[in-house]
Amino acid sequence: MVRTPFERLIDRLRDYQGALAGITRIGGLLAERRTLPAPARPRRLPASGPLALELDAVAFGYDARDAPGERVLTDVTLSLAPGETLGLVGRTGSGKTTITRLVLRLYDPARGAVRVGGLDLRDVDTASLRERVCAVTQDVRLFGADVRDNLTLFRPSPGDDRLRRALADAGLGEWLAGLPDGLDTELRGLSAGEAQLLAFARAFLADPGLVVLDEASSRLDPATERRVERGMDRLLAGRTGVIVAHRLSSLARVDKIAVMSHGRVVEYGRREELAADPGSRFARLLKLAGVNR
Ligand SMILES: Nc1ncnc2c1ncn2[C@@H]1O[C@H](COP(=O)(O)OP(=O)(O)OP(=O)(O)O)[C@@H](O)[C@H]1O
Ligand SMILES: [Mg+2]
Repeated sequence: MVRTPFERLIDRLRDYQGALAGITRIGGLLAERRTLPAPARPRRLPASGPLALELDAVAFGYDARDAPGERVLTDVTLSLAPGETLGLVGRTGSGKTTITRLVLRLYDPARGAVRVGGLDLRDVDTASLRERVCAVTQDVRLFGADVRDNLTLFRPSPGDDRLRRALADAGLGEWLAGLPDGLDTELRGLSAGEAQLLAFARAFLADPGLVVLDEASSRLDPATERRVERGMDRLLAGRTGVIVAHRLSSLARVDKIAVMSHGRVVEYGRREELAADPGSRFARLLKLAGVNR
């Protein structure tokens, strides 16, 4: 008689401690203040259509005190016309993810400028930027909530029809049909491939003009890989895209390739031209992978 209530009490105590730790972390998050200067006269990005992207002699270090020689990115110049796609490749730590963070204006460059839709990101209204530029990150965050909240990220829903369409566009239509409670199903235990597709569905919902896709490096089974590829094709159709590619199959669909090494662009050009030039790093990469194009 004494033991059972005590055990319950101990369980509650554990829940309480977990909740307390959660509250401390939420408090820390809410106390964060933005460190990037807000524009004096914020300008909005074009409300629809694909957006041009330009990195103009960008240099960047995570620590502003980094000397020019210690920076993570040095003299990165890239440009995409509206609707064009760029594949970023390079060794681990070469600065690919860092470039995507600058495109999302999570940081400002130390030198040079990042321009989206012709506007320097330092002049762009943050809400407009978040609406029009969308990221699919390397690791997809899922919440212990239902499918609907995981898609809208707890914002007011645009309606179940749009949510279903976004899932279908991402290639999760059948998956949704197999869930016991549809959009109300509590989300748990997604595979890496499904998580990636769910992130695509979030992007479809946002309908951005520029998509930044940092591919997960985890291996996918061939069937899932094909679903991810089809989802990616649909997502990039009519949009400008930057893809950090870990699989060669993802590079097959881009217009331009930039090879990064130690924070510099060491090769940059149109994909077919690089593939056709036997002296290029990209052609060597294809050869190493046993791909003939
Ligand atoms: N938040 C951070 N703070 C400090 N340094 C960082 C941070 N993120 C990355 N770095 C450093 O910046 C450099 C470039 O990292 P980045 O993540 O851009 O590489 P990557 O090309 O995306 O690599 P991977 O292929 O492994 O994803 C690395 O030296 C890394 O250690
Ligand atoms: Mg990365």
